[in-house]
Amino acid sequence: MASSVIRSYVAKNVDSLAIVGAVAVAYCGLKLLRSIWRGFSVFILARALGLSVNLKRLGSWAVITGSTDGIGKAYAFEIARMGINVVLVSRSAEKLADTAAEIEKKHNVKTKTVAVDFTAGPEIFDVIREQLEDLEIGVLVNNVGMAYSHPEYFNLLDDKVRVIVSVLSCPLTLMTRLVLPGMTERQKGVIINVASASGVNPVPLLTVYSATKAYVDFFSRALQTEYRTKGIIIQSVRPFFVSTKLSKIRRANLFVPTPTSYVRSALATIGVETNTFGCMSHAFQNWLYDLVPKPIYDRLSLSMMVATRKKALKRAAKQD
Ligand SMILES: NC(=O)c1ccc[n+]([C@@H]2O[C@H](COP(=O)([O-])OP(=O)(O)OC[C@H]3O[C@@H](n4cnc5c(N)ncnc54)[C@H](OP(=O)(O)O)[C@@H]3O)[C@@H](O)[C@H]2O)c1
Repeated sequence: MASSVIRSYVAKNVDSLAIVGAVAVAYCGLKLLRSIWRGFSVFILARALGLSVNLKRLGSWAVITGSTDGIGKAYAFEIARMGINVVLVSRSAEKLADTAAEIEKKHNVKTKTVAVDFTAGPEIFDVIREQLEDLEIGVLVNNVGMAYSHPEYFNLLDDKVRVIVSVLSCPLTLMTRLVLPGMTERQKGVIINVASASGVNPVPLLTVYSATKAYVDFFSRALQTEYRTKGIIIQSVRPFFVSTKLSKIRRANLFVPTPTSYVRSALATIGVETNTFGCMSHAFQNWLYDLVPKPIYDRLSLSMMVATRKKALKRAAKQD
């Protein structure tokens, strides 16, 4: 009965339905073309034409938090490669000394190290302020971060949850407060905030990490609107997986780049894109996720995280 009603409706309205179909196909086609053009212009054309901001013109020093490993270390090396002196801020004094020596030797720039643990109280920002005094800081990379050891249900999280919220949100906010007055005075500067793709699309069982990364993203976007006219760029960088200790992915591939290749690509987007996925393959991943209807996306991501949790718990049980 229902099918005969549909059939007769289609037969009567075939012309208008054809128009609706053509408009829908044209809309999707244009959307696809727009995304391809955006990916091409941001990640290939802008890089080839050197359209990104020349960081060296902004000041003689850059400050990078969480700079002895992974993405932060890659930012430190890439920025030093541009001839900019770097202040490395991380936890382990020994790793800081090694990284600083490596950078000085390789890129012939000055380095300064500040050993602080961002899980400590607000007094560490006085230590950092003292160390940054009198430096002309053109670039700040708020990168330091930590994550869960494995995906977990919120009610089963221990006190580490408090530490994650504080390390992912406080240093970024307070470091920005430290450097922004100098930048506004000189009317130039770049602040790069390393957020995460999980701050764009909520990730169950990584709820606290995901929500705090949304804070990083919103903080950056609101601040960019405040300071755009004052000559300051605030960029939110939102990676999917990068092969680092934090992600526990050792082997890089097309979708999981090495920190160096990821950071090279992300640096080339400064001044081109304020909220960036950093590299073409990550922008593509986000584009794919956007195609999936929300309820299906949520169900898929929950079942993936539950499976990852199960595997991690099994591995941990074997090690005990
Ligand atoms: N890797 C990914 O797949 C991925 C994806 C999305 C977003 N991110 C974000 O990218 C950022 C960097 O991640 P990553 O993968 O490069 O991490 P990583 O390889 O684990 O490196 C973390 C760095 O932060 C420092 N650090 C950690 N806890 C600290 C603390 N309490 N106080 C001071 N320094 C501390 C570490 O110093 P020590 O050497 O002294 O420990 C190290 O230099 C994070 O914000 C993370 O959330 C990463």
